[in-house]
Amino acid sequence: MATKLDLDDIQGLIARGYRTLRYARFTIFTAPDPAAAHALLSWLLTRITPAGRFSGDSALHVAYTPAGLRRLGLDDGVLDGFSPQFRSGMTAPNRSRFLGDIGESDPHCWAWGGPQEPPIDGLILLYASSPEVLGARQAELARQIDATGIRQVTVLDTLEAGNNEPFGFHDGISQPVIQGLPKAKGAAPAGAPGGRIVPAGEFVLGYPNVYDQFTDRPLLPAADDPRRLLPRDPASGAADLGRNGCYLVMRQLEQDVEGFWRYAGQATRRPDGSEDPGARTALAAKMVGRWPSGAPLVETPDRDNPRLRDDNDFGYYHTDPLGLACPLGAHIRRVNPRDSLDPKPGTDKSLAVNDGHRLLRRGRSYGPGTGAPGSGTGLHFICLVASLIRQFEFVQHTWLNNPTFHGLYDDTDPLIGSRDPRGATFTVPARPVRRRYRDLPQFVRTRGGAYFFLPGISALRYLDQLPADARSASFSSSATR
Ligand code: HEM
Repeated sequence: MATKLDLDDIQGLIARGYRTLRYARFTIFTAPDPAAAHALLSWLLTRITPAGRFSGDSALHVAYTPAGLRRLGLDDGVLDGFSPQFRSGMTAPNRSRFLGDIGESDPHCWAWGGPQEPPIDGLILLYASSPEVLGARQAELARQIDATGIRQVTVLDTLEAGNNEPFGFHDGISQPVIQGLPKAKGAAPAGAPGGRIVPAGEFVLGYPNVYDQFTDRPLLPAADDPRRLLPRDPASGAADLGRNGCYLVMRQLEQDVEGFWRYAGQATRRPDGSEDPGARTALAAKMVGRWPSGAPLVETPDRDNPRLRDDNDFGYYHTDPLGLACPLGAHIRRVNPRDSLDPKPGTDKSLAVNDGHRLLRRGRSYGPGTGAPGSGTGLHFICLVASLIRQFEFVQHTWLNNPTFHGLYDDTDPLIGSRDPRGATFTVPARPVRRRYRDLPQFVRTRGGAYFFLPGISALRYLDQLPADARSASFSSSATR
């Protein structure tokens, strides 16, 4: 059945990564009291960019943590309808271990979002077509923030969006094609590993997901929304606070660019001790699964071919089941194994299982000069999902940081995985014998992070009027079908 998305209610970040808006700044804030939180939200509401209407030179979005939603007056009973991972937060002790935020990535060492840092209410994402427009919009926002008494926890600057992430690889190539969005028109139907269309409910709450179900979301009795600001759940008639929203994962991932290339250089020295630049690049490409241009190793295993830079139409099982071209543990093969999964690798069934673990990535790189002194270089990783546990956390824990992924036994993601004695090796399958690179240093560290909820615009309107209309006593936590 065709999915009709309510594009005027969905925040535009779900529909587009704003490639034309090359400048971005992310403001993480906390409100001292409900009045300030409401003053800011009322101001933002008239400026949020919906998915259906974007033509200008800037875009603005807002997302909230549970603390921020509570500050706006949302009752704990309604908050219970959000997912447990969102409610407990990214830094709950078990969650940190689960996500691999250990050692130097421990939240106690973070620059923001950690247990010793100020609490976070929300995140404002601002995108603009030029530094001047970004400066002007940010100044306007800063004036509003000042006037309302909101506290900026941190302002995260980004590098001008280009093709490459800081290690030097073309990024932002592979994204799920979402049913109901314009890009899905004419895209490959189910069956093609690259441009497969994924049900909208995987990224937008209130629509059918891969199981043809609605992912859990907060619903409340219709009586608690007498002004009918919220859409209604067709099955129960409940007011749907989750519909047209999604979870937003934000992680500041610092990249040790020099350490990465130093390791690749040392590990590929010639017998006489001299550096072999070609072999160094080839090892780095094996870690990523694509060459620096973006060309996928499964399509061009021996050399880079910039003509294939945006190629995304490939699987692994039929062309490279043993990982001789693209190692089984390479970054892109872990985070999106495509047709490699059980029960029937190489078939539509395998791709269908994979569909339930896709991420819509919206990150932006940052670098020297874009943050506080010493804030380094890296990626403000952002992904949008309907289920934190089944999508982001599963990919991070069960694929990316799993030493036994795909028959391996002491490897984690060579590019970004956390290292411990069980996960510091990178195995490159080859004939006649595989090559194992040992004692990989940690190239990426988590420096901050939080889970947010990116509400639909009706839900923002509902939140905005809460103190006037809230009926806390009767809120229900009923969440799902
Ligand atoms: C500093 C950290 C990271 C770097 C440098 C990095 C780099 C890259 C590069 C170069 C690509 C290939 C280009 C593309 O397909 O768009 C890629 C793809 C991807 N990355 Fe990462 N990444 C990072 C963190 C993460 C994290 C934390 C996740 C998930 C938890 C992730 C998930 C993905 C996914 C899903 C793809 C697309 C794979 C595909 O569909 O083939 N990445 N990344």
